[in-house]
Amino acid sequence: MIALTGTPGCGKSSVAEELKKRGYNVISVKEFAEMHSCARVEGKEVVVDIEKLSKFKFDGIIEGHLSHLLKPEIAIVLRCNPILIKKRLMERGWNYNKVMENVEAELIDVILVEALQNCERVYEIDTTELSVEEVANIVEEILRGKNENFEPGKVDWISKLEDRIEEVTRYGGV
Ligand SMILES: Nc1ncnc2c1ncn2[C@@H]1O[C@H](COP(=O)(O)OP(=O)(O)OP(=O)(O)O)[C@@H](O)[C@H]1O
Ligand SMILES: [Mg+2]
Repeated sequence: MIALTGTPGCGKSSVAEELKKRGYNVISVKEFAEMHSCARVEGKEVVVDIEKLSKFKFDGIIEGHLSHLLKPEIAIVLRCNPILIKKRLMERGWNYNKVMENVEAELIDVILVEALQNCERVYEIDTTELSVEEVANIVEEILRGKNENFEPGKVDWISKLEDRIEEVTRYGGV
């Protein structure tokens, strides 16, 4: 079981779709949860019972921002520059607070840290400058064992965005 995880908007579903086309057995957390009666609808949201779902196994790639919590053998965390995450989520029409919660989560590595707390083998891919196909190529490389360039700890948005963060802190607005 391989988890393809990351902050909303980082490209998990797009990459999962590409991997499916290449012949991998791929499922979303939502589909997996529905299959095992671990999903319930609350208003507009689908709530997944992760604890119950983590008792089930899947032989393939499971994608979604909670997939790393399902006790996978490997978690691949897709990373994406928080500024691009913001653009993509605003384009979806999400409200500003919800967008910024996710921008902040990406900035401070929330999913990566959770993955490290829950899985023994974790890799991360900075997808910011890559096409969906290029990200899928890297996922395939990692699965073939060529993973030395994708050990966690290489992505550091705070250093990268230092000037931008200082500007925002000083003058307000994003
Ligand atoms: N590598 C990429 N290059 C350019 N655009 C991308 C790339 N990956 C994804 N996108 C675009 O970004 C948007 C978000 O992608 P996607 O829906 O795959 O993200 P997600 O991680 O599955 O989000 P969620 O967690 O909300 O399901 C889509 O419009 C998609 O077309
Ligand atoms: Mg998705």
